[in-house]
Amino acid sequence: MNSHSLSFILLLVVVACNFSLYGCQSIDTPDNEEIYDAGKIDQHLEADVTFTEKYRPQFHYTPRINWMNDPNGLVFYDGEFHLFHQYNPFGNQWGFMSWNHAVSTDLVHWEHKPVAIAYGKEEKEGIFSGSAVVDHSNTSGFGDIETPPIVAVYTSAFEGDRPNQAQSLAYSTDGGETFIKYKENPVLDHNDPDFRDPNVMWDDQREEWVMVVALPTQHKVAFYSSPNLIDWEFLSEFGPAGAVDGIWECPDLFQLPVDGDPGNMKWVLHVDMNPGAVAGGSGSQYFVGDWNGESFTEEKSTSNDEILWTDYGTDFYAAISWSNVPKEDGRRLWVGWMNNWDYANQIPTSPWRSAMSVPRSVELKSTGDQLRLVQQPVDELKSLRKDHVQLQNVSVVNGEVKSLSDQNISGKAYEIEVEIDPADADVVGLMLRAGEEEYTLVGYDAVKGTTYVDRTQSGESGFSDLFEGRYDAPTRLENGVVKLHLLVDWSSVEVFVGDGEAVLTNRIFPDPQSRDIRLFAE
Ligand code: FRU
Repeated sequence: MNSHSLSFILLLVVVACNFSLYGCQSIDTPDNEEIYDAGKIDQHLEADVTFTEKYRPQFHYTPRINWMNDPNGLVFYDGEFHLFHQYNPFGNQWGFMSWNHAVSTDLVHWEHKPVAIAYGKEEKEGIFSGSAVVDHSNTSGFGDIETPPIVAVYTSAFEGDRPNQAQSLAYSTDGGETFIKYKENPVLDHNDPDFRDPNVMWDDQREEWVMVVALPTQHKVAFYSSPNLIDWEFLSEFGPAGAVDGIWECPDLFQLPVDGDPGNMKWVLHVDMNPGAVAGGSGSQYFVGDWNGESFTEEKSTSNDEILWTDYGTDFYAAISWSNVPKEDGRRLWVGWMNNWDYANQIPTSPWRSAMSVPRSVELKSTGDQLRLVQQPVDELKSLRKDHVQLQNVSVVNGEVKSLSDQNISGKAYEIEVEIDPADADVVGLMLRAGEEEYTLVGYDAVKGTTYVDRTQSGESGFSDLFEGRYDAPTRLENGVVKLHLLVDWSSVEVFVGDGEAVLTNRIFPDPQSRDIRLFAE
């Protein structure tokens, strides 16, 4: 008889839902009849939102109502993390793109704020994705040095007969409460229907602003510089490179120490791609290299041509990192959209649609001959931990499925840290959110050398043919053991492999009664 030993630590998280709710949005209902005809006006606008609706994530950010996509304008200012995001103020499907807003002091509890930058009704201007910076030296002239302005740099997506995407500014002089669109918008325009998602940073060394922006259909990003956020000069382009099966969107460029050594800094260029990513549909990749003030050069080990995927699951897209995080903190922090364009508009949630991943810290580690991004859920999430159970040396025999319910271990939202010794099993792991006929598998596949998430039996999936599947991330055992950190919520599973060198993020829609946790080996 083959037995497999698992040392198993389960931390059950009981989450307090501390949202303060805003009953109305600061935006006019559109007067366009077509919108009503298309059924896009959300019937639940006045609904009594409870945050306990079926599938409502409990420790992931969701808007109170309506459609959400990419995180936008992530910026830290005066003790608060700002989270703006793509938002349809009028319905639960993509449309009327605006920037919605939330703030947090701890990255865990979010306070919902009114829409910050609204769809332009007159000019049919969608407020597409972008970034926000604190203009400490008031280079833009939008504020003053004592209260530096927050400047949002976004894409104006002009709809109409000749669609055009150009980069625009909006600024806040009241700490992000309200934004004013710059009257000379757009600030960067060359009449291109596919030119979007500007991400701006201050280049300390050269004392200038640098923008990286996507040229989606060309599988490229372009770099620009500016002294004042208003006048932009073209620098260079990067791409096509890496994965090019889909369009490129939402770039980010930032510097990180290698293995925490401030004497060895490298640059990371992060780019999203849709479709054709590793788990199908939309996903993200990154390049590691150098930025010399004019161009980005990828540094690759000659032996390795692989694509560096940010996440091996289906549901992590458009991540961008927070700007202006205090130096004393020192972390590079980001959050991604926990959805996939393959089925984003169909996922079965109402009166809101989409969630963000948990905020994660991002580091660069040398593993083998390659530098890799390593992600971890932010430490602040530990404040949600309440009860915990620790199991050690649990053995599972090949072919056995062991439920933990007889030890009173089950749940809908929890965290698990587990170390698995696969011994001679081909596959070993956990069944999560398991019920009579459904479960989500998270396991180690010793034959393939991967950690995988299988959501082919995970619950509701009929809303899209593209939803069911199994997703694998390359995994190396350490001392014969695989270490996993799982974050399970009412409709998602995030798996951090090892020290976070691979991550799998997936939405699932299990019955609320499916709470069993089982161990299995084959
Ligand atoms: C990415 C994206 C961006 C665009 C935004 C529009 O998900 O397509 O490229 O700015 O969504 O909502």
